[in-house]
Amino acid sequence: MDSLEAIFTRRSIRKYKPDPIPEEDIETMLRAAMSAPSANNYQPWRFIIIDERTLLDAIPEFHPYSEMLKEAPLAILVCGDKTAVGHPGYVYLDCSAATQNLLISAHALGLGAVWLGMYPRKSRMDGIRKLLQLSNNLEPISLISIGYPNQEKLPANRFDKNKVCRNKWEV
Ligand SMILES: Cc1cc2nc3c(=O)[nH]c(=O)nc-3n(C[C@H](O)[C@H](O)[C@H](O)COP(=O)(O)O)c2cc1C
Repeated sequence: MDSLEAIFTRRSIRKYKPDPIPEEDIETMLRAAMSAPSANNYQPWRFIIIDERTLLDAIPEFHPYSEMLKEAPLAILVCGDKTAVGHPGYVYLDCSAATQNLLISAHALGLGAVWLGMYPRKSRMDGIRKLLQLSNNLEPISLISIGYPNQEKLPANRFDKNKVCRNKWEV
């Protein structure tokens, strides 16, 4: 699968087979995430691999849209280290870019994944902070649920030329 095909056919996958994810695929996804662009190249992203069933099952107790984790063999939490950047706002942008790279690489590997929002929802951030014992410098930004897909989704063609102008904004 080339990069454009991976981008155009990626969808959020929320149903999984129980098979575990090979370690080399986990490393490939993390390599892809860490290949993202980063302001001043500070690379403030940090990752927590979550594959303990009790932890995965506990997350829906504080995250209302994460029930699929009860089926998922794996999740990866993307955190930003607030002490690793010059301007704190860049933590969120860099980690979002890393998250998108991780999602596309999962799809290219034949896996299914979905971005579960953490930042800026305080109750979810507090919940995951407590569950995974995050240190204060770490901001939980996104959680990615991953597994072998147990559903098929067609590509979504969302191109809308009404959202694009040339040289100045015209409505
Ligand atoms: C910041 C962000 C937060 C999201 N949070 C959730 C979530 O908590 N639960 C969920 O099932 N999907 C979540 N999604 C996935 C979106 O629902 C999904 O990307 C959107 O409906 C478009 O569908 P697609 O990814 O299949 O193209 C989130 C996506 C983003 C970018």
